[in-house]
Amino acid sequence: MHSTQKVENKFNDLFKNKRELIIRAPGRVNLIGEHTDYNEGWVLPASINKCSTVLLRKNNLDYSRAYAYDLDKHFEFKLNDRQKHSHWESYIFGVAMEMKNRQAKLENFDVLITGEVPFGAGMSSSASIECALVFGLNELFKCGFSKQELAHITQMAEHHFVGVKCGIMDQFTSLMGKDKHCLFLDCKTLDYEYIPLELNDYILLLCNSNVSHSLASSEYNIRREQCEQGVEILKKYKTRINSLRDVSLDELIQYKNHFPAIIYQRCLYVVQENERVHQAVEALKKGDLNLLGKLMYLSHYGLSKLYEVSCVELDFLVEQSLENKSILGSRMMGGGFGGCTINIIHKDAIDDFIEKISKKYFHQFKKEMTPYIVELGEGVRVV
Ligand code: GLA
Repeated sequence: MHSTQKVENKFNDLFKNKRELIIRAPGRVNLIGEHTDYNEGWVLPASINKCSTVLLRKNNLDYSRAYAYDLDKHFEFKLNDRQKHSHWESYIFGVAMEMKNRQAKLENFDVLITGEVPFGAGMSSSASIECALVFGLNELFKCGFSKQELAHITQMAEHHFVGVKCGIMDQFTSLMGKDKHCLFLDCKTLDYEYIPLELNDYILLLCNSNVSHSLASSEYNIRREQCEQGVEILKKYKTRINSLRDVSLDELIQYKNHFPAIIYQRCLYVVQENERVHQAVEALKKGDLNLLGKLMYLSHYGLSKLYEVSCVELDFLVEQSLENKSILGSRMMGGGFGGCTINIIHKDAIDDFIEKISKKYFHQFKKEMTPYIVELGEGVRVV
C-alpha cells in the first residue's frame, strides 16, 4: 500500500491543488453463489480489507482530469464527450456518464486512483475503483443517490462502457459490505442480510492461478445469453417464470427434453447453485463449516463441468486441496477462466499447504501460484 502522504503529494503536484475527499472502497471475495447474480439469484460475498482509493476535487475547468497512480497514466475528458475509452479510463468515464444519465449535476473534477486489490485475480478490483469513484462523486456534488442506486450506476458503467454484462454482486458488496460479515444478497430485490463469518481456527485463503481471464468478458456474456435462452424455453410452459430464480430443480428436470443440451446444463448449474447459497447460509448460521466446505466443492464441480467457466489451472488447485484434510472446501471464485480459488483451511496448515501446492503448481504449469490470506473489511467509506 502507498502511504497516503505520498499519494496526496502526487495529487498536489499534478493538479496544483489539494484534494477535497479521499474515498476507499474494497474488493470482495465470494463464498458461494457464482454466476447467479445476473440470473436474479442469491450470492454470499464479503468485502475484504484490500481497497481502491480515490482522491477527488472539483476543478472548475471545462474538462476533467484523471491519473492512475499505479500505472502512471493520465487522461482528460469532457463530461459531454461521447468518445470510447479503454481499460481503466472506461471505469472513470463510464461512472461519470452513468451518473449524468441519471440527471446528476456533475461538474468537472480531478481524480487520482490507486489500489491494493490485485488486478485480474477475481477480487473485483475494477468494481472497487468504480465504487470509490461513484461514492466520491455522489458526496462531492451532493447528488443524493442511495448506495443501492450507486450500485446500479456502477453496474451500468460496466455494461455500457466496459462491455461486460455483469450482475450486481461486486458493486453491491463494495458499497454495502461489513467487516467480519458476509452479505447474503437477493440480487433481484436487493434485500440482504449480514451473516457473521465465524471460521474459528479456519481462515480464507485465495490461491491465484495467475491465469489472466482473457476469455472472460466474451464467454461471460455468452453464459448470460444462454441462461436467458433457458428462461425463454421455460416461459412457454410456465408463464410465471421470469428468471432462473423462479425455477425449481424438479421443474427444470420436468422440461429437460425441451432444452438443447448445453442450455440445460447451464440452467441446471444456476438452479443448483441458488439452492447451495441457501444451504450455505444455514450452514454458517449453525456453525457447520464442514457442510459449507462440501457445498463449495459442489459449486466448483458445477462451474467446471456444467457451466464450463473454469480452466485446467483452477481445476488443478481445487483437486490438490481435496487431498488435504485441513481444507474444508475449495472452489474457483468470480467470473472464471482464471483468477483465484477460495479455500477454507485450518490456520496451522497454511504454510505447509502453500509450500507444497506452489511447488506442484509450478512443476505442472511453469507458472507461479500467488497466495493471499483474506481478511474481511468494511464497505466504501470517506477517509
Ligand atoms: C464477475 C461479475 C459478477 C458475477 C461474477 C460471477 O465477478 O462482475 O457480477 O457475475 O463474475 O459470479
